[in-house]
Amino acid sequence: MTTPSFRLDGKVALVTGGSRGLGRAIALGFAESGADVVVSSRRADACEEVAAEIRWRGRRALAVGAHVGDWADCERLIARTVEEMGRLDVLVNNAGIAPVPPSLPEISEELFEKTIAVNLKGPMRLTGLASAHLPPGGVIINVSSKASLRPSPHTVVYAAAKAGLNALTMAASQELGPRGIRVNAIVCGPFHTDSFDRSVPTAELAQALSARITLGRIGSADEIVGTALYLASDASAFMTGALLCLDGGGA
Ligand SMILES: NC(=O)c1ccc[n+]([C@@H]2O[C@H](COP(=O)([O-])OP(=O)(O)OC[C@H]3O[C@@H](n4cnc5c(N)ncnc54)[C@H](OP(=O)(O)O)[C@@H]3O)[C@@H](O)[C@H]2O)c1
Repeated sequence: MTTPSFRLDGKVALVTGGSRGLGRAIALGFAESGADVVVSSRRADACEEVAAEIRWRGRRALAVGAHVGDWADCERLIARTVEEMGRLDVLVNNAGIAPVPPSLPEISEELFEKTIAVNLKGPMRLTGLASAHLPPGGVIINVSSKASLRPSPHTVVYAAAKAGLNALTMAASQELGPRGIRVNAIVCGPFHTDSFDRSVPTAELAQALSARITLGRIGSADEIVGTALYLASDASAFMTGALLCLDGGGA
């Protein structure tokens, strides 16, 4: 029996929302495992800071400013990746937003459209564009949310978008599987990131949330890296269409 490898040497990975939070952790973790990385978010300057950290680790890196909810930006992002990095092996659809709607009747068209655009439209378009370049052995990882499985009134639009992302994961895995391209999702529970910490501003709230988690705590951003590496590497060569919960055993 050969020991499975979690290495990504010689591969090029594109991480959306790579400028901070879970995306930054994934981008740096992939670089430490041998990948060259394209870091993308709306703010090219913030992506450039992460790209500099990746180069410091001895890997190639490219920072690209792009709004994933914009069809043309998605095209530009994939085109620049392939032109400047020479190939694309791993796409991580990580960029996401979770604005809290006031109540069902008060949900505005603007809130609805921007939530769907970032969490679902962008991943759908990037999946289509990337699929033209991913080689056999290529991988797509979608960063979903536990809200997609356990929605609540204050996550309704976000939850619906992430449920759509789960559906995209399963459908794309079927379309791309015959070409040897795998598509899986990480269904995240709560992780400490800037935006999460802003949405849970008090220690009491954080404590109440932690009490509902089997491991009794909120995850740290670095704790997504192992699962992302597993899905990106040959260690998960027989896994596709899966929704992997990474939630500390949350209820
Ligand atoms: N943290 C959690 O507890 C948690 C739980 C469940 C699921 N998730 C999911 O995990 C992913 C990352 O979450 P996070 O907590 O790390 O978020 P975060 O800290 O707010 O980071 C979000 C990232 O997405 C980028 N982004 C936002 N809007 C964008 C757009 N329109 N186009 C391109 N990039 C955009 C941001 O950069 P710019 O502002 O520069 O664009 C940033 O890099 C999201 O999909 C989120 O839904 C997180």
